[in-house]
Amino acid sequence: MAETRDTWGTKIGLILAMAGNAVGLGNFWRFPYQAASNGGGSFMIPYFFALFLLGIPLMLVEWTQGRTGGKYGHGTVAPMLYLHAREAVSPSAAAIIGALGGMFAFSVMALLTSYYSQIIGWTLGYSYLSLTGAYMDKAVNTGQFFVNYIQNPVYVFVFWGIALVLMAYTVSGGVQGGIEKWASVMMPILYVFGVILAIRAITLGAPVKPEWSAIKGLDYLWEPRWADLTWKSALAAAGQIFFTLSVGMGIIQNYASYLKPDDDIVLSGLATVSLNEFAEVILGGSIAIPIAYAYLGPKGVGAGVGLSFISLPNVFRDLPGGQLWGAMWFFLLFIAGFTSAIAMFNYLAAMLEEDAGINRRVGAYVAALTFFIIGLPVALEPILTKTADLAYLTELDNWVGSYFLVVLGLIEVLVTATMWGHGAWEEMNRGAYVKVPKWYFDIFMRWITPIYIAVILFFSTLDYAKGGYFSFNPDTLVKYLGVDPKLGPWVLTARIVIIVVLVIGFFVSYKSIKRSYGEEIAQGKVLIRR
Ligand code: TRP
Repeated sequence: MAETRDTWGTKIGLILAMAGNAVGLGNFWRFPYQAASNGGGSFMIPYFFALFLLGIPLMLVEWTQGRTGGKYGHGTVAPMLYLHAREAVSPSAAAIIGALGGMFAFSVMALLTSYYSQIIGWTLGYSYLSLTGAYMDKAVNTGQFFVNYIQNPVYVFVFWGIALVLMAYTVSGGVQGGIEKWASVMMPILYVFGVILAIRAITLGAPVKPEWSAIKGLDYLWEPRWADLTWKSALAAAGQIFFTLSVGMGIIQNYASYLKPDDDIVLSGLATVSLNEFAEVILGGSIAIPIAYAYLGPKGVGAGVGLSFISLPNVFRDLPGGQLWGAMWFFLLFIAGFTSAIAMFNYLAAMLEEDAGINRRVGAYVAALTFFIIGLPVALEPILTKTADLAYLTELDNWVGSYFLVVLGLIEVLVTATMWGHGAWEEMNRGAYVKVPKWYFDIFMRWITPIYIAVILFFSTLDYAKGGYFSFNPDTLVKYLGVDPKLGPWVLTARIVIIVVLVIGFFVSYKSIKRSYGEEIAQGKVLIRR
């Protein structure tokens, strides 16, 4: 195990790195289409509930788990959960809980990154193609252009490859010398680009039809519509909170493991949430939606996943200086995705370092190679099948991009808040400038948050069952997903891959706990205290 752990250099560097972790494609690409396709103003109501009742408590719990883990030399979730769980249950029970949590974190790390890095590749490719004006020609519609892009192996592999190597390079420089340094440069650029784009978007006026104005797009998002509130939008909102804050993934804990034992958690965690929410609801909400509304009307806003890559390029064609605006938009997406995905690279590098003794310089490149191999089906599906449904990606996203996060979030809050309780509250507040009030911890973190998550999980499970997501019959699967029937084997493969990765994740996690705490588990009592 590494004797001296890397640490963050400065407070501002830490906050920017954490903000970089949280602010990602989720804020600028996923949030607008989730909000738009779930009713805009009716989505924002459960969104804010979820922010306060799930997002903030989980963020603080994860920082606490990470800081404890770091003190004992761990950067991954399994041993972190073990350390908190053993305060409430026997070491052997704690080891099982730790391994279960570690299993979900491992799967999210391996699989989420496999397709997220693919999308980062697209954003880089589209930045370049915006500058060259490749999609400006109105003879090819932007939907077709996107299809051509993802079916073109040269574009797909070149830009994805560049992104993977750059991320590995960044992470190989270490926490302070790589991640912190890059985030400190990239995050300010991201906010500046975001503000410029948002101003451009909301000052578009009504260029196409008088009743389609950019400001109407904002109304659509901000006018609360209680009547349109549905279970589906509530679930989607909770899922978005997990995704955007990077909670339920293990990577907040990983970054927090490089804190010093008395570094503040509460204020830093809240700062991370604030920076993320500013980027999401203020910037993310003021770019894609108003632009799409002004040019394409209410229908354009509901475009779903294609909002960023299909609808907006369509608008950039008409906008004066569209090539530059397009490049700025896609480069913003690139930075957002990049500074998030390196957290996953670092998670894997930490795991390789702590569990397999592989030095992080090498580990970062091993991570890139791993994500390349696991990501191959994502890249190859459109190329080999000449389809554009992205069924493999969608299937992974349905599980690891939403369901697993919620499960891991539940385990985390149950272990640290509900089970450990008072001790965790003291641990969280150690070194804090502003403390979490006891009543808040007792009522909200211990009870309301886990109950809220459990309810979300219950209804999501019902939804998934109804949607045929638990079926292993490829024909049923394609029917439910509404994709090209010939993609059945791809969807089935995705499901099998998920199961295999879960199994591997469990064993790797259990072994990792046993390596450090085998003696405790054998004797049934806590021996190692720092
Ligand atoms: N919070 C991120 C976002 O909003 C999600 C994320 C962070 C992520 N790190 C990641 C996704 C690594 C995939 C891989 O986009």
